[in-house]
Amino acid sequence: MTTKEKVLGVLLESGGFVSGETLAERLGISRNSVWKAVTSLRSDGFEIEAVTNKGYILSSEGTALSEPVIRKYLPENDSRSIYIFDTIDSTNNYAKKLASEGAGNGTLVTADMQTAGRGRLGRSFCSPAGGSIYMSVILRPKTDMQSSQLITSCIAAAAADAVDRVCGTDVKIKWVNDLYLNGKKICGILTEAAINFESGGLDYAVAGIGINLRSVKESFPEELLKIASSVEDETGNLPGRCRLIAEILKNIDSYMQNIEKKAFLEEYRRRSFITGMRVAVSKYDEERTATALGISDNAGLIVKYDDGTEEVLNSGEARIIKQ
Ligand code: BTN
Repeated sequence: MTTKEKVLGVLLESGGFVSGETLAERLGISRNSVWKAVTSLRSDGFEIEAVTNKGYILSSEGTALSEPVIRKYLPENDSRSIYIFDTIDSTNNYAKKLASEGAGNGTLVTADMQTAGRGRLGRSFCSPAGGSIYMSVILRPKTDMQSSQLITSCIAAAAADAVDRVCGTDVKIKWVNDLYLNGKKICGILTEAAINFESGGLDYAVAGIGINLRSVKESFPEELLKIASSVEDETGNLPGRCRLIAEILKNIDSYMQNIEKKAFLEEYRRRSFITGMRVAVSKYDEERTATALGISDNAGLIVKYDDGTEEVLNSGEARIIKQ
């Protein structure tokens, strides 16, 4: 941990004023180093007041990414590794590398911005700096391949519930795993997995979650603004990233623990807004129109094609047709 993180840790733990002298003594550093750490934390966006004869107090966590603040919202015994970057190509790439080297279940990789953020179906994911969430979580569920196919929907339900609790929103899920707010996409999820060919089971999965929290009006191209938005643009508020990241992690832990019990499915179905809509289903380079009938017990999309045949889609894409 850096000196800056240690100073932040003491201020978070105390919740009140801590004198410069106490900080210096507890951390075994000089008063000058304390001052430098406070200055640097302020430039990261933490609001730290200094009051004569009282010391320092953390008055606002701001929106900076910080391990001590994420941990503040996780259970005390949470022992996952956390990696935070200012800039990275893709948090999913880094998490996959860590996973292939043996990193444990729950390992978190997050960054302020991505230079090559990846979306589903080979698309790119626009990932500007300054307040949004780009995070990847390594998952090693002890379950069969069939239940592993539920991971993507499980992550969508976990993220939707956390966004609502932290941001006071009413987020919907568009099958498979896009989160929508007021009819616009605010979050995408990319789950990538590695199979262990010897056991025939899942070696690991990496769940990548991108949430547009900060306004995208200035940073997204015109074309994208027709379909995408952000929490700040829709609600006028920019929530702190650390608490939201921690809430997502806790939801993932709880849903993934017994994924075969499908505790997330009720939440997923409740939020799904595609039922009853006309959709264009893409499969094998072919597009067919259908009506979405609902979500199956395996979180697939049940569709009825215009020729009357029905199918349960477990992968692919269903584009909503504007009526
Ligand atoms: C989609 O909408 O098609 C999925 C987007 C997934 C984006 C997230 S951001 C964090 C993680 N790293 C990536 O490169 N992609 C995922």
